[in-house]
Amino acid sequence: MSDVAVRVDHVSKSFRMYHERNQTLKSAIMRGRTSVHEDFWALQDVSFDVPEGSTFGLIGSNGSGKSTLLKCLAKIYYPNKGTITHFGKLAAMLEVGSGFHHELSGRENIYLNGSILGMSRKEIDRKFDDIVGFSGVEQFIDQPVKNYSSGMYVRLGFSVAINVDPDILVVDEVLAVGDAEFQKKCFDKFAEFKRVGKTVILVSHSMESVRSMCDHAAWLNKGTLKAVGEAAPTIAAYEASLNNG
Ligand SMILES: Nc1ncnc2c1ncn2[C@@H]1O[C@H](COP(=O)(O)OP(=O)(O)OP(=O)(O)O)[C@@H](O)[C@H]1O
Ligand SMILES: [Mg+2]
Repeated sequence: MSDVAVRVDHVSKSFRMYHERNQTLKSAIMRGRTSVHEDFWALQDVSFDVPEGSTFGLIGSNGSGKSTLLKCLAKIYYPNKGTITHFGKLAAMLEVGSGFHHELSGRENIYLNGSILGMSRKEIDRKFDDIVGFSGVEQFIDQPVKNYSSGMYVRLGFSVAINVDPDILVVDEVLAVGDAEFQKKCFDKFAEFKRVGKTVILVSHSMESVRSMCDHAAWLNKGTLKAVGEAAPTIAAYEASLNNG
């Protein structure tokens, strides 16, 4: 299977939704162990392959399951059914702030995040200047990241993720919060990844970005896969559904 970077195989993921409102401690104790909940399926029987070396866009409306799928891929969530397999080293840059410890400085978070992503201390020492340089947050590197702006968070997180030198880079909406200069840097980085045969999976609400960067795409709608394949027809199908919606 050398031509597949990621295989999503019949993946379903549910969350429990609880219905009690204004619950008091007393009422919770009186009711005992039973609780009112239903299963909400954020992903339902989703299957597709991400070709190795592709730049793969994951598109769909708010709440359609894109981030949930990326979290399953990054092993932050586990699917209730099905499996996700990836071939090669994977680094994920998920939602703003995820993976960062708010009280720690940018510097400390680089070490924390880098080690979570599998880098040794020595390796991080070596790459530290590159990471900070790419992020553009030098001036604030010893400030706690809780004082960072959303864009600064994303810049630092993304810089760590790309410096892990992964075979598969997974990014959730980094482009939306970055400014034009950083977006350009990201585009260039994605292009460089593509050139050397690495795989990029990205979520974006900008169809313009997906159209210009991605060769393949998958469209999720309410947790189910509506279309997958070459980017252009997949984007067109999604856009047509919005216009008819
Ligand atoms: N931890 C959770 N607990 C309960 N429900 C969740 C959880 N995470 C996600 N969901 C639900 O799963 C559905 C899919 O959410 P998800 O974040 O994957 O959507 P998305 O496609 O990334 O949307 P967006 O474009 O807004 O980022 C939503 O209805 C959301 O409320
Ligand atoms: Mg999301």
